[in-house]
Amino acid sequence: MTTTTATQSLWLEALSPDGFPPLRADETFDVAVIGGGIAGMTTALLLTQAGLRVAVLEAGLVGAGVSGNNTAKVTALQSTVLSTIDKNHGESAARDYATASLAGVEKVAELGADIDCDLQRRPAFTYALSPSEVEAVEQEAQVAARAGLPVTSGPMDVPFPVHATVELADQILVHPTKYVRGLAARVAAAGGRIFEHTRAMQVEGDRVVTSAGTVRADRIVVATHFPILDRGLYFARMEPTRAYCVAAKLRSGSAPKAMAINPGTPSRSLSSFGDLLIVAGESHPAGERGVDAGRYENLASFAREYWDVEQITHRWSAQDPIPYDNLPMIGPYTPKSGRLFVATGFMKWGLATGTFAGMILADLLTGKDSPMAERFAPQRVTLKSVPDLVKMNAKVAVDMVGDHLRVDDAPAENVRIVRDGVGKTGIYRDPDGKEHAVSLRCTHLGCLVRFNAAEISWDCPCHGSRFDVDGNVLEGPATKPLPRREV
Ligand SMILES: Cc1cc2nc3c(=O)[nH]c(=O)nc-3n(C[C@H](O)[C@H](O)[C@H](O)COP(=O)(O)OP(=O)(O)OC[C@H]3O[C@@H](n4cnc5c(N)ncnc54)[C@H](O)[C@@H]3O)c2cc1C
Ligand code: FES
Repeated sequence: MTTTTATQSLWLEALSPDGFPPLRADETFDVAVIGGGIAGMTTALLLTQAGLRVAVLEAGLVGAGVSGNNTAKVTALQSTVLSTIDKNHGESAARDYATASLAGVEKVAELGADIDCDLQRRPAFTYALSPSEVEAVEQEAQVAARAGLPVTSGPMDVPFPVHATVELADQILVHPTKYVRGLAARVAAAGGRIFEHTRAMQVEGDRVVTSAGTVRADRIVVATHFPILDRGLYFARMEPTRAYCVAAKLRSGSAPKAMAINPGTPSRSLSSFGDLLIVAGESHPAGERGVDAGRYENLASFAREYWDVEQITHRWSAQDPIPYDNLPMIGPYTPKSGRLFVATGFMKWGLATGTFAGMILADLLTGKDSPMAERFAPQRVTLKSVPDLVKMNAKVAVDMVGDHLRVDDAPAENVRIVRDGVGKTGIYRDPDGKEHAVSLRCTHLGCLVRFNAAEISWDCPCHGSRFDVDGNVLEGPATKPLPRREV
């Protein structure tokens, strides 16, 4: 139902499984949007408002993907993203990204005004947790100012020393699941159709073949977070990175209003919701070896070091794809596709970016000029970033070939790995003693998945597909489950 299995996001605890019905018969629309996260839902709403007949096909529940597993900051100041874009693409690209992000923030304010989603204006900060981060923060302040953001350097309401800040006032904290489901309600009220529990398996011409029937549409938008179709080679141009979050109830004192993040390692992203403190960080490439609940413990220890924590109330994690050249990919799926579109590569800032992606796609699909479309076109080639592209794929090559040859190791106490012909079977013993056995060969392109003991899932190191212990797909690009095996 959701992308995490062992933990529960603060934003998903009130989510009812009774939402929109699955697809029951073949149907035809002007536009089919695959994926009901913030990117897909924003696109669907704007297109529905433009008078198009729109269907949203969602594998699980709307708003329960990464859009329901984040730190809820909607901001144009995003750690040191602008400095990175400035370095890779130059000043005009940083300015375009800042302009588009601000437009995304204001679109969330506009659409969220009619949705019960706890929307609040808050300041966003990039801060130096250690003296070694000061230079990066100061650099971001300069680039952000040049890019047109009205940044200052205000104090943060946190109980530990901060060595430098850059602040952008009037950004937004929103309950992301309430917001995305609110968008869905508006799509439905305006005549759009939403099908939950309907997984797209393939796209052939104007047909989206799903787990529950076929939808035909003139135009199709792939907003599945990591694109599910291999054409366009998105899997070779992005690296999914996973991170962890905890929410803490405080015995005394107050949680910060600042929505803050430091640029270094360890990263400690801070926020709050009601009287709960939120701390996030502990990033790693998806599918890394040796991931366990220690990731959550480190965040909880940080919270306890500086706040009077009564209880850790929630733990959740998620991953987001980072494009090799650090710009999101929004537009035609392949150079020649006039029918198929994509929005991905949000670098852990997709609440603002996924929103402006929806705005760009809505313009493109309704034939309007979109001033930002060229900047974020997926087909761009960034020569400066080619070494990063090569490095990213060299790592995948090692995982594809190397893991097949490596001798089995025991990734966790309750997990065994046994040989299975040319492949391997993973056996997880649950707390009731029941064993769950699946083939470990990823159904995307065949890498071997690894056990994630923090989330009790099998995660692929190559492109980030994730599966539960019975093999069901939690996250793509894979669309097919891991085959079950006899114990
Ligand atoms: C730890 C963490 C913290 C973050 N914090 C922030 C933050 O504070 N601010 C911010 O701006 N961003 C943040 N982000 C990033 C942000 O949450 C994401 O970029 C954004 O939510 C992505 O939206 P999306 O619509 O692309 O994906 P999703 O919300 O994942 O939506 C994609 C949907 O597609 C569905 N789907 C997948 N495959 C199929 C299929 N085959 N058929 C049908 N449906 C399918 C999924 O079920 C899912 O619902 C964070 C990310 C992480 C990892
Ligand atoms: S996600 Fe591509 S091989 Fe597993």
